[in-house]
Amino acid sequence: MYPLVLARTAHADLWIFRFHYLPVSESPQIRTCELSNYWIISSLAMKVLCLSDTHGHHRKLRTPEADLFLFAGDMEASSFSRLADFSDWVASIPLPAERKIIISGNHDGVFERHPLEARNYLDGIATYLENSCCMVAGLKVYGTPVSLAFNNWFFNIPDDGSIKDYWDLIPPDTDILLTHQPPSGILDSDSGQKNLGCSQLLSRVKELQLRLHCFGHIHPGYGLQNIDSTTFVNASICNDWNVMVHEPIVLQMEFD
Ligand SMILES: [Fe+2]
Repeated sequence: MYPLVLARTAHADLWIFRFHYLPVSESPQIRTCELSNYWIISSLAMKVLCLSDTHGHHRKLRTPEADLFLFAGDMEASSFSRLADFSDWVASIPLPAERKIIISGNHDGVFERHPLEARNYLDGIATYLENSCCMVAGLKVYGTPVSLAFNNWFFNIPDDGSIKDYWDLIPPDTDILLTHQPPSGILDSDSGQKNLGCSQLLSRVKELQLRLHCFGHIHPGYGLQNIDSTTFVNASICNDWNVMVHEPIVLQMEFD
């Protein structure tokens, strides 16, 4: 089973070095969907469930047990009814609102068009971040939905260098960064192996001492990579055709 799982990713060499596979039968997670595997960092304290780009498929998932839920955008909140359904599903995750942290993505138009009304759907259910931060378990979490312009979607910023203004807003003492956009060269390859991440985000990330950077957006970039002391996760669970093909990623974070 181990080689089978590793064969799925281009980052297999990194995964085998830092991670071990926890068979579902030996794990405490609850799980009924057809996707059957989790990747877990060995040994420690806080379980972090990373999820992104569900594109309306959230009802097909039964979420693993976790202490912190991070959602990196593209729930597919293109209408209030879709947002209401997603919000109901998030409410069913047995964590307090401050432990469920959500950002939008380029397919979550109601948050850009009707920001106040959209946020009301998550009131008391989750913590919505939009170029803002929160504290959880002593960690600073910063979230932003912006991504480089692509087909004139939502929260798109022209690829003229101006997106740097958004990355500069990330506080220097951020522990967990939640962006929809991947950084350039890290889990950002499309199906044609073209890197679609943002080089200016990469520059900003290099200035920070993040514990975790969770993102999505470029679906085929799904996976996990450790660089120095930062764990990078592309948590997209869909493929390019928005079919759910990947698994939620659960990390266990060590505390110093
Ligand atoms: Fe997406």
